Amino acid sequence: MLPTLCTCLLWLSTSGLWTVQAKGSGTDVSTRNPHRDLAPNNVDFAFTLYKHLVASGPGKNVFISPVSISTALAMLSLGARGYTREQLLQGLGFNLTEMSEAEIHRAFRHLHHLLRESNTTLEMTMGMWAHSFDLESTREENFYVNETTTVKVPMMFQSNTVKYLNDSVLPCQLVQLDYTGNETVFFVLPVKGKMDSVITALSRDTIQRWSKSLTIRQVDLYIPKISISGAYDLGGIMGDMGIADLLSNRTHFSGITQEALPKVSKVLHKAALQVDEKGLEAAAPTRVSLSAAPEPLALRFNRPFIIMIFDDFTWSSLFLGKVVNPT
Ligand SMILES: *[C@@H]1O[C@H](CO)[C@@H](O)[C@H](O)[C@H]1NC(C)=O
Ligand SMILES: *[C@@H]1O[C@H](CO)[C@@H](O)[C@H](O)[C@H]1NC(C)=O
Ligand SMILES: *[C@@H]1O[C@H](CO)[C@@H](O)[C@H](O)[C@H]1NC(C)=O
Ligand SMILES: *[C@@H]1O[C@H](CO)[C@@H](O)[C@H](O)[C@H]1NC(C)=O
Ligand SMILES: *[C@@H]1O[C@H](CO)[C@@H](O)[C@H](O)[C@H]1NC(C)=O
Ligand SMILES: *[C@@H]1O[C@H](CO)[C@@H](O)[C@H](O)[C@H]1NC(C)=O
Repeated sequence: MLPTLCTCLLWLSTSGLWTVQAKGSGTDVSTRNPHRDLAPNNVDFAFTLYKHLVASGPGKNVFISPVSISTALAMLSLGARGYTREQLLQGLGFNLTEMSEAEIHRAFRHLHHLLRESNTTLEMTMGMWAHSFDLESTREENFYVNETTTVKVPMMFQSNTVKYLNDSVLPCQLVQLDYTGNETVFFVLPVKGKMDSVITALSRDTIQRWSKSLTIRQVDLYIPKISISGAYDLGGIMGDMGIADLLSNRTHFSGITQEALPKVSKVLHKAALQVDEKGLEAAAPTRVSLSAAPEPLALRFNRPFIIMIFDDFTWSSLFLGKVVNPT
C-alpha cells in the first residue's frame, strides 16, 4: 500500500493549488456543516504556522495556503498509527477529547471533496475582484522595502467605497475587499516598522474584532499588481510545532505499509497567487467631486504589508502572505 503515502506527498507538494469553495454543494447555512467545524482549529493552525515561517525568515516574503497544509497533514494522519497519529492531529490543533479522530477525518474528507471539485484557483489567479481596479490608472511607483531599498512596482488604483479600518489597538490600517466566489481578502498595512507587532497579534480574535470594526468609507486605494508565491519544505517547522515524529525514524505509518518503516523525507508546499486589476464590475475611475465632500482617504500599499484570503463561507484560511519585497 505504499502508493498511498506517495499520493499524500504529491498532494503536499501541490496542495497550494487547491482552495476551498462553498458554492453549489447544496448545503444550507443553517444545517450542520462538517467543514465549518474545522474553522477554529484550522485558523489557529494557520496563524501558528505563519508566525513560525515569518520568524524563520526575517525580512523575507512569506506565502502559504494553510488550509491545504492542514488538510494534507490530516489525510496523512490516516496512514499513521499510535502516537504519531495523535501527535499529527494535536499538532494541527485538535483536542482529541473534544473531537474524535473519526469526526476530524470525516470533516477533512468533506473539505477535501470540495477542494477537488473546485476550480477556484484559476479564478483567483485571474484576479476577479468584485470591484475591479481601473486598468488605465495602473502606473509605476516606488515601493519602500526597508530603510535602504526602494523598488518599482506597477501600482493599481481604485477609488471606491470599501470596508476600512484605522485600528486603534494595533498599529495598522486595513481594507477588506471581496473577490468573486466567496473569497474575502484583507490587505493590512502596518505602520512603518511595526510589521512584527501586527503579525504577533494576528489571531482568530483579531480577525473577528476587525470584521466587526471595519466601516464602509470612500478610499483611494493603491495596491501593487504582483505575483506572490512561496515554496517550502515544512519538515523542520513541523518539528517546532510539535509534530516531530513526522520526519524522525520513529514514524509509524503502518497504516500505509507493512514493510520496513517508511520515512516521510520532506513536507513540500507551494502556493501562488496573482493580484491584478480584473474584476466583475468595471472600475469607476471618474470620481464625482462634490465641493462639499471631504477628500477621500488615500491608502497606499507601498511598504511591506500582509495579505490574508479567507473563504467567507467556511472561514478557511486559503492564503496567508507577508509581502516585504514584491519584485
Ligand atoms: C482537551 O479538552 C478537555 C475537555 O474540554 C480539557 O479538559 C483538556 O484540558 C483539553 N486538553 C488540552 C491539551 O487542551
Ligand atoms: C476551470 O476554469 C478554466 C478557466 O476558466 C476552464 O477553462 C476549465 O474548463 C475549468 N475546469 C473545470 C473542471 O471546470
Ligand atoms: C533591505 O532589503 C534589501 C533587499 O531585500 C536587503 O538586501 C537589505 O539587507 C535590507 N536592509 C535592511 C537594513 O534590512
Ligand atoms: C490612524 O489613527 C492614528 C491614531 O490612532 C492617527 O495618528 C493616524 O493619523 C490615523 N490615520 C489615518 C489615515 O486616519
Ligand atoms: C457563496 O456562498 C453562498 C452560500 O453562502 C452560495 O449560495 C453561493 O453560490 C456562493 N457563491 C459563489 C460564487 O461561490
Ligand atoms: C535515522 O536512521 C538513520 C539510519 O537508519 C540514521 O543514520 C539517523 O541518524 C537516524 N535519525 C534519527 C533522527 O534518529
